[in-house]
Amino acid sequence: MRKLLIGTMLASSVGAAAYAQDVGRVEVLHWWTSGGEAAALDVLKKDLESKGVTWADMPVAGGGGEQAMTALRARVTAGNAPTAVQMLGFDILDWAQQGVVADLNQIASEEGWEEVVPDALKQFSKYEDTWIAAPVNVHSTNWVWINKEALDAAGGKAPETWDELITVLDKMQENGITPLGHGGQAWQDATIFDAVVLSLGTDFYKASMIDLDPEALGGEKMGEAFARMEKLRSYVDDNFSGRDWNLASSMVIEGEAGMQMMGDWAKGEFLNADQTPGEDFVCIRFPGTQGAVTFNSDQFVMFQVGDEQREAQLMMASAIMDPGFQIAFNTVKGSVPARTDVPNEEFDDCGKKGMADLAEANTNGTLYGSMAHGHANPAAVKNAMYDVITQHFNGEISTDDAPAELAAAVEAVK
Ligand code: BGC
Repeated sequence: MRKLLIGTMLASSVGAAAYAQDVGRVEVLHWWTSGGEAAALDVLKKDLESKGVTWADMPVAGGGGEQAMTALRARVTAGNAPTAVQMLGFDILDWAQQGVVADLNQIASEEGWEEVVPDALKQFSKYEDTWIAAPVNVHSTNWVWINKEALDAAGGKAPETWDELITVLDKMQENGITPLGHGGQAWQDATIFDAVVLSLGTDFYKASMIDLDPEALGGEKMGEAFARMEKLRSYVDDNFSGRDWNLASSMVIEGEAGMQMMGDWAKGEFLNADQTPGEDFVCIRFPGTQGAVTFNSDQFVMFQVGDEQREAQLMMASAIMDPGFQIAFNTVKGSVPARTDVPNEEFDDCGKKGMADLAEANTNGTLYGSMAHGHANPAAVKNAMYDVITQHFNGEISTDDAPAELAAAVEAVK
């Protein structure tokens, strides 16, 4: 009898343990497929696995997430949305409007998200007072990543102005390397464009990229921005067309190219190649943009799913918002935490700078959503801009014509 009782107790406690451990499965759509991105994603996967959540991976390659968004549309149309989806800015609000995303208000209020997520992110994490996404990080696009040895060979001084930048690029050319490592894809061209426009003034960035003022879009200053793009184009190698951004990072890591103008996800590639900031590479704000930040934040938007997935979905949202996780993930990813209450000690010098720059820009009113990464305007406007920027970069639109083309393309869709 006694034996039987213990046996029953054991069976039920084993049953309970197994139940507690198996919280369910999350299917996650994302575009983190490069070496550095995969390493960061692994931090999230392992964290969830340790909590009994099974990870079903749905990677769709392509920086900026355009292809991932196409894949998402197909899934939702088929009535089979993933549990969670990596998403940027205005795309989040688009999906919220369609009424297919989940309500995270209860967990957000239990965990006090309201107090720790800055307004700049909350405008995308919430829709009509409902939390619909968990922000995992803040990236910014106005960075330059420079090979240290190549910089030393070019005089050793990190450029602070446009003219200094051109001097360094010229010197790198003389030294026989590709000055600018770049991949010819629309979103990468647009990422440089973010920084170039910002380098011509914060008011100009706001007027053109955010407020879509036709005069700013089509005016003289925009002519200067396109002239700068044309100049930068002259430092790119012949094989740049279609190249993935992480391969351009590899060129800088290996010293084949001098620098890359890219968001701080590039740092993830340098770290993944065992490089150290200050020793092997140098991170600077794009010359002329010091004190301002064009940001984008990766958020996991939770979609409406069946009850059997709900617990795992909430567990994922909660895990993402955990301060310890935000440190573990972002130190690998190259981004900075989405929470304002996370200490910076475990971040490297570029990460510390990223956190300080973000706080400073937020206080000074010089924090702007990145056009290239969907935080300045809805996708239709972004794509209209991409087309003109990329055609100009490829010489299909002249620098003289580009501002008017940009203004017209935006006017047609806004
Ligand atoms: C995302 C980053 C990602 C990068 C390149 C950006 O839009 O915010 O997380 O690393 O694209 O894939």
